[in-house]
Amino acid sequence: MPRIFLSPPHLTGREAELVAEAIASNWIAPLGPQVDAFERELATVAGVEHAVALSSGTAALHLALVVLGIGAGDEVACSDLTFAASANAVAYTGATPFFVDCDAATWTIDPELLERAITERRAAGANVRALVAVDLYGQCCDYDAVRDVCARHDVVLVQDAAESLGATYRGAPAGGQGLLAAFSFNGNKIITTSGGGMLVSEDRDLVEHARKLSTQAREPAAHYEHLEVGFNYRMSNVLAALGRAQLESLPERVATRRRIRDRYRELLADAPGITFMPEADYGTGNAWLTCIVVDAGGFGADREAIRLALEAEDIEARPLWKPMHLQPIYGSHVTFGGDVSGRLFERGLCLPSGTALTDADQDRVAATVLACRGSRVPG
Ligand SMILES: Cc1ncc(COP(=O)(O)O)c(C=O)c1O
Repeated sequence: MPRIFLSPPHLTGREAELVAEAIASNWIAPLGPQVDAFERELATVAGVEHAVALSSGTAALHLALVVLGIGAGDEVACSDLTFAASANAVAYTGATPFFVDCDAATWTIDPELLERAITERRAAGANVRALVAVDLYGQCCDYDAVRDVCARHDVVLVQDAAESLGATYRGAPAGGQGLLAAFSFNGNKIITTSGGGMLVSEDRDLVEHARKLSTQAREPAAHYEHLEVGFNYRMSNVLAALGRAQLESLPERVATRRRIRDRYRELLADAPGITFMPEADYGTGNAWLTCIVVDAGGFGADREAIRLALEAEDIEARPLWKPMHLQPIYGSHVTFGGDVSGRLFERGLCLPSGTALTDADQDRVAATVLACRGSRVPG
């Protein structure tokens, strides 16, 4: 039986057509009509005015911080429960990230703890400039509360929307909640360009500055003239064609991921000790990955026993993100809280959630999980 991957790319058929168009037009450069169109289309989907297509979500986060003028001597608050790219982008600028735990009810940054964290860092003399708030596994942060805290403390909100394309917050598409937002089109995301990202904002100047920086900060001159340090971060026209084809089916992709999540709920409904990532009532998540939490005592096996049993069946499942405060590289950084994210990491598992997952595949995953009951309870 073929391996079941966690979240593999899912092609719809239109990709080859649009990529062929890009090739036939000879626009194989990191610019061209597909890039322009992808930016317009993605901006529309995200409900924002301006967008610049980049080589990765990490590049988008990095440029967001660069155009905000963040650098050495600054501090940036960051969600603790996230992929390392959120914090790495801060580190690239020379600024120092500090970490804020999540709320158990949403798994996204805890606004009350954020308030305390910024207050305490400021009192300690830190120059807190920005927040990187992460929309975890396709669920937006509670942005009304988060924005209030940021406004009170004059901290700029950067939305790490790498995982939340197609989700909504209070009826608005994910991506317009921060001053700037970053999307990822990495191979495992809800749409993919194999590798790629997009920086979006309502602020034209910030996006235009990022656009300039993304192609080595060339000044408008016939020769190569540079006033600032630039980057080679632009998206290829060929990959933008891939992204456009993928974006066409975003609503169906969100519906499918949500259906997969709901079906796992049904299939595992009788398993005591297994709970699902909660869905906040302020929005609709894209259910990028279905995440469960395993109470080993209640279920009769721990998270790792389940993961290994799935692996033995050639099924890929992954622990939740290891929180930043537990990462050797960021362990010495200031962290507020950490128990919620730490407990989730210990007990949480992401199940195969790709849009091409068949019911039969999913039945196999669920049966393997259920067969673990009683197999291993940690002493
Ligand atoms: C929360 C989060 N932030 C940032 C990134 C970075 O995106 P990319 O892999 O496109 O650089 C990812 C995904 O990879 C992510 O999950």
